[in-house]
Amino acid sequence: MFDLVPIQTIAPDRIEALLDAAFGTDRHGRTAYRLRDGMLPIAAMSLAAVQGDELVGSIQCWPVLLDRDDGGRTPMVLVGPIAVSPAHQDVGIGRALTRAAIAAANGIEGGDALMLIGDPDYYGRFFGFTAERTGRWRLPGPFEAHRLLALGDGVPDTAGDVRPRVSAVAA
Ligand SMILES: CC(C)(COP(=O)(O)OP(=O)(O)OC[C@H]1O[C@@H](n2cnc3c(N)ncnc32)[C@H](O)[C@@H]1OP(=O)(O)O)[C@@H](O)C(=O)NCCC(=O)NCCS
Repeated sequence: MFDLVPIQTIAPDRIEALLDAAFGTDRHGRTAYRLRDGMLPIAAMSLAAVQGDELVGSIQCWPVLLDRDDGGRTPMVLVGPIAVSPAHQDVGIGRALTRAAIAAANGIEGGDALMLIGDPDYYGRFFGFTAERTGRWRLPGPFEAHRLLALGDGVPDTAGDVRPRVSAVAA
Protein backbone atom coordinates (compact mmCIF):
# COMPACT_ATOMS: atom_id res chain seq x y z
CA MET A 1 0.00 0.00 0.00
CA PHE A 2 1.02 3.62 -0.47
CA ASP A 3 0.40 6.79 1.51
CA LEU A 4 -0.18 10.33 0.27
CA VAL A 5 1.88 13.04 1.99
CA PRO A 6 2.47 16.77 1.39
CA ILE A 7 5.07 17.15 -1.36
CA GLN A 8 7.13 19.53 0.79
CA THR A 9 8.08 16.55 2.97
CA ILE A 10 10.05 15.07 0.05
CA ALA A 11 13.44 16.40 -1.10
CA PRO A 12 12.99 18.30 -4.41
CA ASP A 13 15.73 16.30 -6.16
CA ARG A 14 13.80 13.09 -5.53
CA ILE A 15 10.69 14.58 -7.16
CA GLU A 16 12.78 15.72 -10.15
CA ALA A 17 14.22 12.20 -10.55
CA LEU A 18 10.71 10.72 -10.49
CA LEU A 19 9.51 13.19 -13.15
CA ASP A 20 12.54 12.35 -15.31
CA ALA A 21 11.71 8.64 -15.02
CA ALA A 22 8.04 9.17 -15.94
CA PHE A 23 8.33 11.86 -18.63
CA GLY A 24 11.98 11.89 -19.75
CA THR A 25 14.63 14.51 -19.16
CA ASP A 26 13.46 16.65 -22.11
CA ARG A 27 10.19 17.45 -20.33
CA HIS A 28 11.19 21.04 -19.41
CA GLY A 29 10.47 22.36 -22.91
CA ARG A 30 6.84 21.31 -22.76
CA THR A 31 4.10 23.91 -23.03
CA ALA A 32 2.76 23.02 -19.58
CA TYR A 33 6.13 23.96 -18.08
CA ARG A 34 5.93 27.41 -19.67
CA LEU A 35 2.60 27.96 -17.95
CA ARG A 36 4.16 27.68 -14.51
CA ASP A 37 7.39 29.58 -15.16
CA GLY A 38 8.46 31.35 -11.99
CA MET A 39 5.54 30.05 -9.95
CA LEU A 40 5.44 28.07 -6.73
CA PRO A 41 3.16 25.03 -6.60
CA ILE A 42 -0.07 25.26 -4.63
CA ALA A 43 0.93 23.47 -1.44
CA ALA A 44 -2.50 22.07 -0.52
CA MET A 45 -2.89 20.48 -3.96
CA SER A 46 0.64 19.12 -4.35
CA LEU A 47 1.23 15.64 -2.98
CA ALA A 48 3.63 12.73 -3.04
CA ALA A 49 2.82 9.02 -2.87
CA VAL A 50 5.24 6.99 -0.78
CA GLN A 51 5.55 3.32 -0.13
CA GLY A 52 7.73 2.89 2.91
CA ASP A 53 10.81 5.00 2.14
CA GLU A 54 10.25 4.86 -1.60
CA LEU A 55 8.80 7.77 -3.58
CA VAL A 56 6.33 6.21 -6.04
CA GLY A 57 4.29 9.15 -7.33
CA SER A 58 3.71 12.88 -7.26
CA ILE A 59 1.31 15.59 -8.35
CA GLN A 60 1.92 19.33 -8.45
CA CYS A 61 -0.65 22.05 -9.16
CA TRP A 62 -0.02 25.65 -10.18
CA PRO A 63 -1.88 28.97 -10.20
CA VAL A 64 -2.67 30.11 -13.75
CA LEU A 65 -5.31 32.34 -15.29
CA LEU A 66 -7.23 32.82 -18.50
CA ASP A 67 -6.52 36.33 -19.78
CA ARG A 68 -9.80 36.64 -21.62
CA ASP A 69 -10.29 38.49 -24.90
CA ASP A 70 -13.27 40.24 -23.29
CA GLY A 71 -10.85 41.95 -20.88
CA GLY A 72 -11.49 39.83 -17.80
CA ARG A 73 -9.26 37.35 -16.03
CA THR A 74 -10.37 33.99 -14.70
CA PRO A 75 -8.16 32.30 -12.12
CA MET A 76 -7.58 28.62 -12.84
CA VAL A 77 -5.36 25.82 -11.53
CA LEU A 78 -2.98 23.87 -13.77
CA VAL A 79 -2.98 20.25 -12.61
CA GLY A 80 0.21 18.31 -13.12
CA PRO A 81 2.62 16.94 -13.79
CA ILE A 82 1.18 13.73 -12.38
CA ALA A 83 3.82 11.04 -12.36
CA VAL A 84 3.96 7.47 -11.15
CA SER A 85 7.26 5.60 -11.13
CA PRO A 86 7.31 3.04 -13.95
CA ALA A 87 7.58 0.11 -11.52
CA HIS A 88 4.40 1.15 -9.70
CA GLN A 89 2.05 2.13 -12.52
CA ASP A 90 -1.46 0.72 -12.96
CA VAL A 91 -2.15 0.02 -9.28
CA GLY A 92 -4.22 3.14 -8.61
CA ILE A 93 -1.56 5.62 -7.48
CA GLY A 94 -2.23 8.14 -10.27
CA ARG A 95 -5.95 7.98 -9.55
CA ALA A 96 -5.44 8.47 -5.81
CA LEU A 97 -3.11 11.46 -6.33
CA THR A 98 -5.43 13.14 -8.82
CA ARG A 99 -8.56 12.55 -6.74
CA ALA A 100 -6.85 13.96 -3.64
CA ALA A 101 -5.73 17.07 -5.52
CA ILE A 102 -9.23 17.60 -6.95
CA ALA A 103 -10.72 17.26 -3.47
CA ALA A 104 -8.19 19.74 -2.09
CA ALA A 105 -9.14 22.28 -4.79
CA ASN A 106 -12.31 23.11 -2.91
CA GLY A 107 -11.90 26.63 -1.52
CA ILE A 108 -8.64 27.35 -3.40
CA GLU A 109 -8.65 30.38 -5.73
CA GLY A 110 -9.17 28.99 -9.24
CA GLY A 111 -10.03 25.59 -7.79
CA ASP A 112 -13.36 25.54 -9.63
CA ALA A 113 -11.52 25.72 -12.97
CA LEU A 114 -8.92 22.94 -13.18
CA MET A 115 -6.97 22.42 -16.41
CA LEU A 116 -4.27 20.15 -17.76
CA ILE A 117 -2.67 18.87 -20.93
CA GLY A 118 -3.01 15.11 -20.93
CA ASP A 119 -4.57 11.96 -22.30
CA PRO A 120 -8.38 12.24 -22.44
CA ASP A 121 -8.60 8.45 -22.18
CA TYR A 122 -7.19 8.73 -18.67
CA TYR A 123 -8.22 12.16 -17.36
CA GLY A 124 -11.69 12.02 -18.92
CA ARG A 125 -12.41 8.46 -18.02
CA PHE A 126 -11.48 8.64 -14.34
CA PHE A 127 -12.07 12.28 -13.36
CA GLY A 128 -14.35 13.85 -15.98
CA PHE A 129 -11.89 16.30 -17.59
CA THR A 130 -13.09 17.35 -21.07
CA ALA A 131 -12.02 19.62 -23.93
CA GLU A 132 -15.57 21.00 -24.30
CA ARG A 133 -14.77 24.51 -23.08
CA THR A 134 -11.07 24.80 -23.94
CA GLY A 135 -11.33 25.17 -27.72
CA ARG A 136 -10.67 28.92 -27.80
CA TRP A 137 -7.80 28.98 -25.30
CA ARG A 138 -4.31 29.92 -26.46
CA LEU A 139 -1.19 28.59 -24.76
CA PRO A 140 2.43 29.78 -24.86
CA GLY A 141 3.58 26.83 -26.95
CA PRO A 142 2.37 23.93 -29.04
CA PHE A 143 -0.32 21.55 -27.82
CA GLU A 144 -2.88 19.17 -29.26
CA ALA A 145 -6.38 20.62 -28.90
CA HIS A 146 -7.98 17.33 -27.85
CA ARG A 147 -5.49 17.05 -24.97
CA LEU A 148 -6.26 20.48 -23.50
CA LEU A 149 -8.71 19.44 -20.79
CA ALA A 150 -10.62 21.15 -18.01
CA LEU A 151 -12.88 20.32 -15.09
CA GLY A 152 -15.11 22.39 -12.84
CA ASP A 153 -18.08 24.73 -12.69
CA GLY A 154 -15.86 27.79 -13.17
CA VAL A 155 -14.15 26.70 -16.40
CA PRO A 156 -14.57 29.67 -18.77
CA ASP A 157 -15.93 28.91 -22.24
CA THR A 158 -14.20 32.03 -23.53
CA ALA A 159 -11.35 32.91 -25.89
CA GLY A 160 -8.13 34.01 -24.24
CA ASP A 161 -4.52 33.33 -23.28
CA VAL A 162 -3.65 30.93 -20.48
CA ARG A 163 -0.79 32.40 -18.45
CA PRO A 164 1.01 31.95 -15.13
CA ARG A 165 -0.93 33.76 -12.35
CA VAL A 166 2.01 35.88 -11.32
CA SER A 167 0.17 37.77 -8.59
CA ALA A 168 -0.13 34.46 -6.74
CA VAL A 169 3.64 34.07 -6.22
CA ALA A 170 3.65 35.80 -2.88
CA ALA A 171 0.39 34.22 -1.71
C1 LIG B 1 -0.43 8.31 -16.53
C2 LIG B 1 -0.12 7.94 -15.08
C3 LIG B 1 -0.08 9.20 -14.22
C4 LIG B 1 -1.27 7.02 -14.57
O1 LIG B 1 -1.03 6.66 -13.23
P1 LIG B 1 -1.12 5.13 -12.77
O2 LIG B 1 -1.00 5.09 -11.31
O3 LIG B 1 -0.16 4.33 -13.57
O4 LIG B 1 -2.60 4.71 -13.27
P2 LIG B 1 -3.83 4.23 -12.37
O5 LIG B 1 -3.41 3.01 -11.64
O6 LIG B 1 -4.39 5.35 -11.62
O7 LIG B 1 -4.88 3.85 -13.52
C5 LIG B 1 -4.63 2.70 -14.32
C6 LIG B 1 -5.63 2.67 -15.46
O8 LIG B 1 -5.41 3.82 -16.28
C7 LIG B 1 -5.05 3.41 -17.58
N1 LIG B 1 -4.04 4.35 -18.07
C8 LIG B 1 -2.83 4.62 -17.55
N2 LIG B 1 -2.20 5.56 -18.28
C9 LIG B 1 -3.04 5.89 -19.27
C10 LIG B 1 -2.95 6.80 -20.35
N3 LIG B 1 -1.89 7.57 -20.55
N4 LIG B 1 -4.02 6.88 -21.19
C11 LIG B 1 -5.11 6.11 -21.01
N5 LIG B 1 -5.24 5.22 -19.99
C12 LIG B 1 -4.21 5.12 -19.14
C13 LIG B 1 -4.49 2.01 -17.41
O9 LIG B 1 -4.59 1.28 -18.60
C14 LIG B 1 -5.40 1.45 -16.33
O10 LIG B 1 -6.64 1.10 -16.89
P3 LIG B 1 -7.44 -0.22 -16.37
O11 LIG B 1 -7.81 0.06 -14.93
O12 LIG B 1 -8.62 -0.31 -17.27
O13 LIG B 1 -6.47 -1.35 -16.49
C15 LIG B 1 1.20 7.16 -14.96
O14 LIG B 1 1.10 5.95 -15.65
C16 LIG B 1 2.43 7.90 -15.44
O15 LIG B 1 3.07 8.63 -14.70
N6 LIG B 1 2.82 7.66 -16.71
C17 LIG B 1 4.00 8.28 -17.26
C18 LIG B 1 3.70 9.65 -17.75
C19 LIG B 1 2.65 9.60 -18.84
O16 LIG B 1 2.67 8.76 -19.70
N7 LIG B 1 1.72 10.51 -18.81
C20 LIG B 1 0.70 10.55 -19.81
C21 LIG B 1 -0.51 11.25 -19.26
S1 LIG B 1 -0.29 12.97 -19.46
